Amino acid sequence: MTTIALINQKGGVGKTTSTMNLGAGLSMLGKSVLLVDLDPQAHLTYGLGIQAHEFDYTVYEVLRGEVIAQEAILKRDQLEVLPSSLSLSAAEMELSGTAGREFLLKEALEGLPPRDFVLLDCPPSLGLLTLNALTAAQEVFIPLQTEFLALQGMSKLMDTINVVRKRLNPGLTISGIIGTQFDSRKNLNKEVVDKIREYFSDKVFSTLIHDNVALAEAPSYGQTIFEYRPTCRGAQDYLALCREAVARR
Ligand SMILES: Nc1ncnc2c1ncn2[C@@H]1O[C@H](COP(=O)(O)OP(=O)(O)OP(=O)(O)O)[C@@H](O)[C@H]1O
Ligand SMILES: [Mg+2]
Repeated sequence: MTTIALINQKGGVGKTTSTMNLGAGLSMLGKSVLLVDLDPQAHLTYGLGIQAHEFDYTVYEVLRGEVIAQEAILKRDQLEVLPSSLSLSAAEMELSGTAGREFLLKEALEGLPPRDFVLLDCPPSLGLLTLNALTAAQEVFIPLQTEFLALQGMSKLMDTINVVRKRLNPGLTISGIIGTQFDSRKNLNKEVVDKIREYFSDKVFSTLIHDNVALAEAPSYGQTIFEYRPTCRGAQDYLALCREAVARR
């Protein structure tokens, strides 16, 4: 079982879009996949068309130890989803005084029957929820928008990952950098990709996720890109990324 945290404290870089569509693509490749929505915005949950009335528990109750993870997990076609809701926004404060507060997610997931992949969609911050993801994961994927200031904040992110490695999760590796919202017509985008490759070298996936409006539309229909528009550029890109991610292990 490989647990991967999709993380970047910068907002709007494609963490949720990538979690959703990597998950869907991996399941199309025959892998069993659990998606965990760790963001109180719950964009992953709602973007998959899961409505609040369909679930009694979220990752919030799981982190608080009120229910076991299996009880909160929903089946959505081939995917399994541990949903979130706005109530999770209280977790950072409420759990901040708890002993072992960084290990709550890891412990909750340990009790589950194994899946091939568990993908953790992180909020745009480096708070307790993200620390829980980094402690529970073996690997980190970092989506980076191929725009101006893509690498801004990277040293803070690297510092956080290094601290987690030292104190909480020695085996944690950065295994993939995903260039997102790439527009090949824009010279700036190409220059930024070069910079990203300079900074992270072979950790950068050779597949780039192009700017594709269908990727932004699909969640408003509660669909993955493979359900919404299976032949579009975005679907091709995410499937290629899944193949590359699988081939790397
Ligand atoms: N490749 C793409 N082409 C076009 N639009 C995209 C692409 N990737 C993401 N988007 C859109 O950009 C916005 C931000 O993407 P997304 O929600 O995945 O980012 P995020 O990093 O999860 O954001 P947050 O930090 O708020 O959680 C969304 O509206 C999404 O639909
Ligand atoms: Mg998100």
